[in-house]
Amino acid sequence: MATLKLNNVCKSFGLVEIIKGVDLDIKDGEFVVFVGPSGCGKSTLLRMISGLEEVTEGDMWLDDERVNDHTPFERGVAMVFQSYALYPHMTVAENMGFPLKMVNASASEIEQKIAAAADILQLGHLLDRRPDQLSGGQKQRVAMGRTIVRDPKLFLFDEPLSNLDADLRIEMRIEIEKLHKRLAATMIYVTHDQVEAMTLADRIVVLRDGVIEQTGAPLDLYERPANTFVASFLGSPKINFLDATLIDCDSTSSKLALQDGTEVALPIAADVTQKGQSMKIGIRPEDLVLGDGHFQIPFQMELHERLGPTSYLYGESAGSKVIAEHRGRGSVDPTQAKSLGVDAAQAHLFDRNGVSVLSAGGTA
Ligand SMILES: Nc1ncnc2c1ncn2[C@@H]1O[C@H](COP(=O)(O)OP(=O)(O)OP(=O)(O)O)[C@@H](O)[C@H]1O
Ligand SMILES: [Mg+2]
Repeated sequence: MATLKLNNVCKSFGLVEIIKGVDLDIKDGEFVVFVGPSGCGKSTLLRMISGLEEVTEGDMWLDDERVNDHTPFERGVAMVFQSYALYPHMTVAENMGFPLKMVNASASEIEQKIAAAADILQLGHLLDRRPDQLSGGQKQRVAMGRTIVRDPKLFLFDEPLSNLDADLRIEMRIEIEKLHKRLAATMIYVTHDQVEAMTLADRIVVLRDGVIEQTGAPLDLYERPANTFVASFLGSPKINFLDATLIDCDSTSSKLALQDGTEVALPIAADVTQKGQSMKIGIRPEDLVLGDGHFQIPFQMELHERLGPTSYLYGESAGSKVIAEHRGRGSVDPTQAKSLGVDAAQAHLFDRNGVSVLSAGGTA
């Protein structure tokens, strides 16, 4: 059982503040994924939670205990890194048992825990091999086994799969999902991979420059991003942004003009904005269709990228580069693709500061 509470947690290296007041409550058994651009502080925050890095300011609670000054060992937290960091001269079994040996566990306890972890991770037939006789995925499984044997309260993963090839990544992602279900343990996972974030997370935490931009269930963040940063961070290909000027609005609806003068109507939240204001309309590629929508935007197609059952249309709409997803295997004639239909219910609207004044479904 492990809950984690971060209360205004900060970290500076010298004079440079890297983590700038993070508040976060993680429930027992929750799978939380940290995402954010390179250098935003994901690893630093994870290392602070593990106890490998000191907290400069704020409080960190594991269950009901303030752990700011506890060592990694005292916290009962285990971390899996991108590099497997296995001991090359030890067998798989010895590598997995090593943390237990360090705390003078009995030989029978070590043997029993290795067997249990090997069973969970399907490593039973590899126990006598050395790391150089294993594939990347097997090595990462041993690294996970080494954490499981300790029965940690909290698992921390820092991009554990980023060294693996695409197939193995998928295989290991599913392994981690199963591991989470089986152990019902609290896990925090850092990744750059959209699919891992969307599929593994109960909750995603989007970090930017040492602060939390938004937290929420994966689909909530995808459908109701609080700002343009979160909207563009989640989703591949990225959300399209069209520059627009607000020409009219009342408490629920707005009329906007795109750069080329095309007028469109979108729902809007009350009290948010003045006429004449520059705004951005966000439309995900899958919500832009060839054919009719709630409203049309002009389109000059430049490229049709065919991936099989779906394809992407690249081009320009009212002065902005856009990508539209197209279902179907056939080719698309650029002379016929002169406009795209927009599903207004799925469109997003952001004010001049990039803050959402409307999200999919018409709620702000
Ligand atoms: N020991 C340190 N001393 C000084 N600066 C550091 C130290 N460790 C990290 N930093 C800085 O803190 C910032 C955040 O680094 P961190 O490794 O947490 O980023 P990240 O979000 O994990 O990035 P990535 O996605 O590339 O792994 C970076 O600017 C980094 O240079
Ligand atoms: Mg990192």
